[in-house]
This record gives sequence, structure tokens and C-alpha cells, in this order.
Amino acid sequence: MDSLHAQTASTNPAPPQPEPSSLFRPLSGVLGAETDALDLSRPLDAATVEAVRAAFRDHHLLVIRNQSLDKERMYRFAELFGPIESHMIRLADGSKWDAVHTITNLDAAGNPVAKPFISSNYFWHTDKSFLPEPSLLTMLQAVELPPNGGDTQFADMTKAYDALPDATKRRVEGMKTVQSLEFMRRYTGSAPPTEEDIAAAPPVAHPLVRVHPETGRRSLYIGMYSSHIEGLPEEEGRALLEELLAHATQERFLYVHTWRLGDLVFWDNRCLLHRAVANFEMGKHRRVLMRVVVKGEAP
Ligand code: SIN
Repeated sequence: MDSLHAQTASTNPAPPQPEPSSLFRPLSGVLGAETDALDLSRPLDAATVEAVRAAFRDHHLLVIRNQSLDKERMYRFAELFGPIESHMIRLADGSKWDAVHTITNLDAAGNPVAKPFISSNYFWHTDKSFLPEPSLLTMLQAVELPPNGGDTQFADMTKAYDALPDATKRRVEGMKTVQSLEFMRRYTGSAPPTEEDIAAAPPVAHPLVRVHPETGRRSLYIGMYSSHIEGLPEEEGRALLEELLAHATQERFLYVHTWRLGDLVFWDNRCLLHRAVANFEMGKHRRVLMRVVVKGEAP
């Protein structure tokens, strides 16, 4: 990744940027906003960066259309939101994911397969909630897409929390959920983590109700890493987690992203869940997304 640390200031002047206030338009009545008026292949001016940050805070998910960023430009853009995360995931050949890596349904020979080596992205989750400092933001860029489908769903955990009955809100307030890499691997039918992985990321307890540091809003902090609830019998905690997940992922809280080539999409893991949808012929068509993740803070 050393090349990514070398500044690549363009010698050409940046083109005029659109009015920041009119940059993004809402994508749905639930969450998300989009623009086709940005070119991220060049550095943005300060006002535009602020407008993007404000839209991210207000809409939780942004889509910037028609991009064709190489690894370095994608890294540079993501870095505007915080430090870039490194990864512990190992591929079939034992190599680790780069900071900018790909999510694909391809095998080591580059052929589409019905059950990709990494398929936990098809379960509801918020990135890296098993770490003491989980991911703030995840960014994907569509590079190759199936002719239809291959969507990604996003669920708004703030709206889901707000819609809970008051009695449930009182019940869950102050609860802590144990988040575990090992649990997730079992839950999703993935290969178990190595002893080294478990030692590097032992289970961690996070608040079940997370307060967003910028908006002050409460949201449910759950998903595939949520193993059980501290202080509750295991079965009771699991039942509560499954009940909350079923509530939080109802259609009324969802935005479904149907990808177009060149879409750059990034979202706030502090208040959204996401999952890929296997609504295409995975053994036949290629789906390749570039991905980079920004490190967050303790919830
Ligand atoms: C992810 O979980 O980060 C990727 C989601 C997707 O593959 O659509």
C-alpha cells in the first residue's frame, strides 16, 4: 500500500465544482442520497468536501455515480472521512486483503462460483462490530456487475429504534451485546477463525443501543456478529436479538441499492445494517466491487 501514501497532487487546476447545497438528491423516503455531479478522479475543493460530509451525516448513505477510480484515488477519497482500516481476512491462497480490496463471487482462477470463498456479506451486519473500535464507513465501487440483480440492501437502525414500542426501548436501554468473530463464522456457515484470529479479535461487548456521535440519535447496534446479551441467559438474549433483527429489517426501514457500473456507494456503519442479495445467477455472472473501509471509534 506504500504507493497509496504518496501524494498525487494533480498539476492541472481542479474543474469548477457544482454548488454544494444542490449536490445531492434523496434516493428514497428512508435513507440515502445521490449525485452525478462529482468527479472524484481529482481532489475536491474544501466547500465540496464539507457538502459531502454534511450529506453523509444527514442521509447516512451516499451514491456518487459514474466514477472509475483506481485504488489510490479511492483510498484518497475514503481517507477524507478518517483513517483507513487494515484487514485480518485471509483469502483461499492465504494472502490478506489489501486496504483497497475486492468483494467478488469469483474463485482463485477468476471464475464465478455459486458459493464464494467469502459469503458472510450476504447476512445482515455492520462492519467489524466485533472489534473494540468498529468501522465507521464502508465504500464500494461497482466494477463488474451481473446483467440483473446483485443488489445491496441497507436498513436504517435509527428509524428501526424509533419505531420500537416504548416498553422495548426501556427494556433494551443499557444492555450490552457481545460481538464475536467466532460466533459470526458459525452463524454464517463460514470457515472457523484461526487461533491467531481469535487472539487478535476476542469477543467484545458494545451497547445494544448506540448513540450517534454527530446526530445524537439512538439506533440498534446488532447484526451477524451479535452473539448474546451480557447478563441474560443465552437463549433469552438470542431470542431478543433475532426479534430485534426481524423488526429492524422490515421493508419500511430498507433502501435497496440496484447497482450501476461506476457507482461509488458509501454508508455509515454506526447507524445502518447492510447485506448483499443473492438475486442473480452467482455461478454464472461476475460481480466485482472495490471496497475500502474507514476505521471508527468505540461505540
Ligand atoms: C459488504 O458487506 O461490505 C459488501 C456488501 C455487498 O457485497 O454488496
